[in-house]
Amino acid sequence: MKPSKLGLISLLLWIATVAALAWFFIRGNTTAGTDHRTAIVLQASERDFVLSEMRGMLVATQGILEGVTRGDMQAVTKAASAAGMGVAADANPALIAKLPLDFKALGMSVHRDMDDMAKAAATGTPAPEILKMEANTLTKCIACHSTWQLQAAR
Ligand code: HEC
Repeated sequence: MKPSKLGLISLLLWIATVAALAWFFIRGNTTAGTDHRTAIVLQASERDFVLSEMRGMLVATQGILEGVTRGDMQAVTKAASAAGMGVAADANPALIAKLPLDFKALGMSVHRDMDDMAKAAATGTPAPEILKMEANTLTKCIACHSTWQLQAAR
């Protein structure tokens, strides 16, 4: 084989590999869901991890709303920061690789919102403004839940 041909073949292989990696990076480890949604396929322990993070988000949401209604902004900050970016840092790289790009972006944006609400409550932002932030964040919870489900690999 001529060297130039060999070079072309390795270039094509390289392009195919990069394209496959990019495809996986964008789509994550997904398949058709059991309803109209797309399923993200995870190990059982990874699914448990994500679901426990979700329950933490629900706890934070409750804590924020209760804090605002009681006028206890310190409680709002505490509840919101418990679901902030710090939590996301615990996820392991193998799990992160399986999540679709859009899912990661939406998830990160919710964690960031939690930090923003924590900061807003700590800096005297009026209650209606914080409730508006919370309502806005909840639309992201809804958007994600209507798009994806989690499936444990068999
Ligand atoms: C980036 C996507 C995404 C975002 C954002 C998101 N969730 Fe979820 N959540 C999911 C998925 C996927 C599931 C599993 C759904 C399924 O398998 O049917 C889930 C499940 C849950 C569950 C069930 C947990 C369990 O133990 O079964 C709760 C509660 C929950 N989410 C709360 C929230 C709240 C509250 C927010 C917003 C503050 C939120 N989620 C934002 C993707 C998301």
